[in-house]
Amino acid sequence: MKHLFLLILLFSAVTSCNSQEKPATTNNAPSKSDVVIENILNRRSVRKYQPQQVGKDSIDIIMNCAVNAPSALNKQPWEIRVIQSKEILQKIEGLEANFHGAPTLIIIGKDKENSYASFDCGLLTQTILLTAESMDLGTCSLGSVAAILNQEKSKEVFDLLGLPENYDVVLAIALGYKAERPEAKKRDLGKVRYID
Ligand SMILES: Cc1cc2nc3c(=O)[nH]c(=O)nc-3n(C[C@H](O)[C@H](O)[C@H](O)COP(=O)(O)O)c2cc1C
Repeated sequence: MKHLFLLILLFSAVTSCNSQEKPATTNNAPSKSDVVIENILNRRSVRKYQPQQVGKDSIDIIMNCAVNAPSALNKQPWEIRVIQSKEILQKIEGLEANFHGAPTLIIIGKDKENSYASFDCGLLTQTILLTAESMDLGTCSLGSVAAILNQEKSKEVFDLLGLPENYDVVLAIALGYKAERPEAKKRDLGKVRYID
């Protein structure tokens, strides 16, 4: 009897210890932090897409999350354009801009007069990438497309974006249902140092 009591005491001590390390969850569901970490680690640049278009409901969720990204002094020095029109996408392809055949192209415009705009647009972009990943949608950041859209030869398409006077394109993002699941590329944890 005494042994049984000790055993129960030991078991409850061990389980209460574990529950301090991990937040308690119901139904064996993964904890919120597990889900967020898995989402970050699963995201990869996708360069093959299914032809199926992404629905407006999904785009609305992604955009709502996007504009909740932080920005210096909450200036939100960005403009976002979501392009699904086949006609406009063909025009962009005609400029030799490669967005990997994605059915949706997101263009991020940046306020050239705001010195934090590049950081802010980077945070906006990562928010878009991670929200899309949480829906199992593929994305790819496209600096090359942004560079092309800012060129003089792209003026017709650039004007279609209707960006404010002092804006240029900082990045484009391909978006669509994944037709490939690339492995993670090598990362260098040696860039992290703990200074005690
Ligand atoms: C600012 C920026 C510009 C990029 N431009 C391109 C691009 O023009 N074309 C492309 O295929 N990938 C582009 N990428 C994707 C990177 O190649 C990719 O993020 C990197 O190789 C790491 O792979 P991962 O995203 O799968 O982890 C860009 C990424 C960033 C952050």
